[in-house]
Amino acid sequence: MEKIYDFDQIIDRHGTNALKTDALAKRYGNADLIPLWVADMDFATPDFITDALLARMKHPIFGYTQNPPGFYPSIIRWLKEQHQWDVKKEWLSYIPGIVKGIGLAINVFSNEGDKVVIQPPVYHPFRLVPQGNKRQVVYNPLKIGRDHYEMDFVQLEEILKDERCKILILSNPHNPAGVVWSSETLATLADICARHSVLVLSDEIHADMALYDNRHTPFATVSDNAANNSITFGAPSKTFNIAGLVSSFSIVPNDVIRLRFYSWLAANELNEPTIFATIATEAAYTHGRKWLKQLLTYLEGNIAFVEQYFKQNLPKIKVVKPQASFLVWLDCRELDLSHNELVDLFVKKAGLALNDGEMFGPGGEGFMRMNIGTPRNVLERACNAIVFR
Ligand SMILES: Cc1ncc(COP(=O)(O)O)c(C=O)c1O
Repeated sequence: MEKIYDFDQIIDRHGTNALKTDALAKRYGNADLIPLWVADMDFATPDFITDALLARMKHPIFGYTQNPPGFYPSIIRWLKEQHQWDVKKEWLSYIPGIVKGIGLAINVFSNEGDKVVIQPPVYHPFRLVPQGNKRQVVYNPLKIGRDHYEMDFVQLEEILKDERCKILILSNPHNPAGVVWSSETLATLADICARHSVLVLSDEIHADMALYDNRHTPFATVSDNAANNSITFGAPSKTFNIAGLVSSFSIVPNDVIRLRFYSWLAANELNEPTIFATIATEAAYTHGRKWLKQLLTYLEGNIAFVEQYFKQNLPKIKVVKPQASFLVWLDCRELDLSHNELVDLFVKKAGLALNDGEMFGPGGEGFMRMNIGTPRNVLERACNAIVFR
């Protein structure tokens, strides 16, 4: 009989140094908020991963370690099964975290003063990492289309005429609004970027969590232009709730880009995983299908709950229904509040820790990002707290 996982179980994370709980006081000035911010989930990491880690921990020596032979094959099998992508072993490298991977690629493929294009509202390290590396960040804001966000290709063409633009960072699927980009959109993006010799860094950390009937399309699969002009980053960290183990990978089909990037990683030993990263990744990608299916069903239930709740109790807050992952973008613009008033409403009045939309850049004003990767009961308490503040 298939094992049923319990996503309703409430697990206290206080005192584990979890950012989500234990950094609340520092970040929000109040340790007692309901934490719906940092993008990890409050569900137990599945047993097939903890069992694999525990089995290795029984051996008392944690010395220098080579990759288990099943590590890369497990990634290749997973990408084929989940995303119909045939990835060759030599295209892959371990990467010590996706944000770090983006930073590494920026250092290898651009120079100080060069321009990096991002499409806000978007995951804020896309701005912070290039800026921290003294690159100029250029915005090509998304447009709100008929029922979801769209890329502005007319504006992108204009922006990329500037030869100092070297890199575009793509969030695929897109955080914070949970957009699953279509293959047509990705192919158009690939053509424009290739024409202007702008390298695409495709962050696909949320790829495994497409919801409802949506399907994730890996950027590099849409055309030759995409495959030949991109670095893709993936990870089991969001999907299986193992961000703290720091296991991610890059995929580079183009020989020239790969040689340049991977020889630099190898020179600095940045392609060498830690023991637990490889063990957790192999276990996740070997045994994770059923757990993932149950997780996605639970997340869809959480989204339905939040949608229905706001519709009935506070219709001025509109839920932008995510097509992927566990982050819900709340459109609060009808409340007609300033940024500070909106943050005050959620944090001070309701006692909730959410990410405010402004941190994701232009277009985020008037929005809040709510992490619904938590037991339904917690979500219910959070929604009640906003309505009955
Ligand atoms: C789009 C996106 N990229 C990257 C990350 C973080 O990845 P890592 O922890 O591997 O740096 C997150 C986490 O929220 C994310 O949403």
